[in-house]
Amino acid sequence: MRNRNLEAQFTLFPIDTEPEVPPDDAASDGVALVSFRELVPEINDTGYLTHAIYAYPAKFIPQIVRYAIKTYTKEADWIVDPFAGSGTVGVEAYLCKRNAVLLDLNLLLNHIMPLKVYRGKEILSEASLYKLLADMRESNEQFTPAWSNVTYWYAPEILEVLSQYWGFINRTDVGIYAAIIKSALLKVSKRFSYTEDRTPKLARSKRKLNAIEALLKENWREQLDEMVQSLSLKTLRDLNDFVVYTQQDHAEHLGQVEFRGGVDSSDVAVPRVCDALITSPPYLQAQEYIRSTKMDLFWLGHTEEEVQALSRLEIPYRKADRVIQTETLDKVREILTRDDLRKRLDSYFCHTVNALENSMNQLKPNAAACIFVGNPRIDGITVEIWRILVEYFTERGWTFEKVHEDRIKTRKLFGARKNKNPDGMKSEFLLILRKNAIDQTTAPQCGPLLQDAEVPLPAPKKSPDSDAS
Ligand SMILES: C[S@@+](CC[C@H](N)C(=O)[O-])C[C@H]1O[C@@H](n2cnc3c(N)ncnc32)[C@H](O)[C@@H]1O
Repeated sequence: MRNRNLEAQFTLFPIDTEPEVPPDDAASDGVALVSFRELVPEINDTGYLTHAIYAYPAKFIPQIVRYAIKTYTKEADWIVDPFAGSGTVGVEAYLCKRNAVLLDLNLLLNHIMPLKVYRGKEILSEASLYKLLADMRESNEQFTPAWSNVTYWYAPEILEVLSQYWGFINRTDVGIYAAIIKSALLKVSKRFSYTEDRTPKLARSKRKLNAIEALLKENWREQLDEMVQSLSLKTLRDLNDFVVYTQQDHAEHLGQVEFRGGVDSSDVAVPRVCDALITSPPYLQAQEYIRSTKMDLFWLGHTEEEVQALSRLEIPYRKADRVIQTETLDKVREILTRDDLRKRLDSYFCHTVNALENSMNQLKPNAAACIFVGNPRIDGITVEIWRILVEYFTERGWTFEKVHEDRIKTRKLFGARKNKNPDGMKSEFLLILRKNAIDQTTAPQCGPLLQDAEVPLPAPKKSPDSDAS
């Protein structure tokens, strides 16, 4: 199963994983082994329809989201995703005739969603797109991003052309066609910069400097224009496929997708009561989403101040304002000797739990919370995130229902990124918690809650060890 958009994507999943285990095979410790790709055979391309329009670090594969939607929600339900990223949950919810509330710290969400969940009913015209591209090439507008370092990332002649194209497109109000070209310009602006293409984080490299230097001796302008045009055309065709798909049964498609990028999910007011939560929290290991996407944000017109303010709120880089305590987490804390890593651990669980809890409090009784997490290792110690979340939430009015384990054969996460445990996360887990009929978050607390109703937790695989690699 190949991801045809591999070049442009950094998904959580390897692209060359063949299912190794039969679906729903119970593993020895009671965790259900699954292959989401096998469970959802109707999706055989992770970038189908509009899913691949934006490259975003650590995207969900749509199969997981589709599985959770089909299993834990029904038509017309509202689903909340407090870590929406590039909006995979929004696209899948819409395609399955559900509604979604998407929240994320990253402002990119606001630019991505109108394209990825395109509500138009008419097929878009290639001629109109070509006309706008021609106008852009002829224009004399200029836009310089509010980014003090911009000249560090571009050859001057390339920066000039990009500034002209962005100048035109940022001031053009031709709705969907301008949005399509913007999505192409984002990719081109990265490809024609000095930053490495395959790493999400900005990284100027000798290899890329040499590549750009060689390009400048060729017909680079033609190549740049060609890339803008072909990417724009591809997106337009993806959108047309989306229109055909969503109109195919001729029924009125009433699904709504509300989105708010640029918010901290720990304390933003969730705008409505929802029927389910489906989400994938940030990584415990450093993954700076804002920093990774800041080149895009600057070209889209955001300022350095805005970007810096958001970076400060990013999990797990802010200081913890409370210490989350559970049996498993306390054991990890005990073994962890490095103070900086303990701080990161505390920050991660404090703010991840705060954000989850903020959205989970807005769920109806009996609603499912489907949380997709890894099993990372930190300084050689395995951190069973799903188990820690189970321990925390079962004490607060939630029932542990299930955890699915999807094994990862190979890992192509962040290219050449250095990591003490490059092989540390061999599985990913979809944890299902069920909100109890009586909302215990508002009920008086009187000792352990509803313990009888809970499914017993499988025993830890082994206590956190320190098999440093
Ligand atoms: C694993 S990614 C989610 C990817 C998403 N599932 C997708 O398919 O694109 C985690 C997300 O958490 C977001 N995030 C980090 N800290 C946050 C915070 N304090 N509030 C809201 N979102 C936050 C990051 O911006 C990132 O988009």
